[in-house]
Amino acid sequence: MRERVVLKWGGGLITEKHALKTVRTEVLDHLAEQIESCIQNGVDVILVHGAGSFGHLRAKEHRLHEGKLPEADINGSMTQEEAVEAVRNDMLELNAHVMQALTRCDISAVTLSPHQWARNTGAGFDGDLALFEQAPQGIVMVSHGDVVDCDEPRRFGILSGDDLVVRLATEIPGVKRLVFAMGGVDGVLADPPQPNVEDVLLPTLRKTDLFTGEHAVEMDVTGGIGLKVERGFQVTARGIEVLLVNGEKDRRVADACMGKEVVGTRLLA
Ligand code: IPE
Repeated sequence: MRERVVLKWGGGLITEKHALKTVRTEVLDHLAEQIESCIQNGVDVILVHGAGSFGHLRAKEHRLHEGKLPEADINGSMTQEEAVEAVRNDMLELNAHVMQALTRCDISAVTLSPHQWARNTGAGFDGDLALFEQAPQGIVMVSHGDVVDCDEPRRFGILSGDDLVVRLATEIPGVKRLVFAMGGVDGVLADPPQPNVEDVLLPTLRKTDLFTGEHAVEMDVTGGIGLKVERGFQVTARGIEVLLVNGEKDRRVADACMGKEVVGTRLLA
């Protein structure tokens, strides 16, 4: 019996977060190889990737996460509607890099971009997940954070990959676990990383445990580690395992997806 997992590749892992539209090709290849191992070991993967520098910088500049604003409040280089199109295209460009990395590993994959099938934002967004569910064995269904249409008066907004994974993990039958692969961090830390201070990794985390998450508000238009943990607990509440691991080190992502013991943070229901 094959298992099914939902995997999120964070945008900060697959792109250089501070350099506009810069992809980390070696990281993508390393991650794609690990999906290949999963498939070969009987684990099917639904993949969601973030935006990193292909989404947040421009979305923030044009305040797309706030929805439609009066023209006077907006930076003059383009209208918000033009920025919506531009960010959607940038996300398609990043997605093409992801698909190329999967193809280099001979993985068959299909992308369903949210702006074509989803509406509204947050974990309660609207959109039919049937196509993800119907994927044949061994085919990776892919989606990503995106700018989606919203009901009036917002008109548009940012649907985070962290919201997509909640619905995918809890509504698609047979999903065993949800894995967040992150860049530059081994899991949830007791305190945000600081120079010359050793990180304290929390191997497990309960909803009641306190931690101070780092969130670069000046750059991110979605939620940082706090959103992942919050969304993760929505998923553990439905009996699905949730792990947060470092996507840059060893084969932790594959190990986590295959249910092996791994360095990272496990959320406890
Ligand atoms: C954000 O998606 C989408 C856009 C900014 C267009 P995510 O919230 O999933 O992205 P990362 O993982 O934080 O980069």
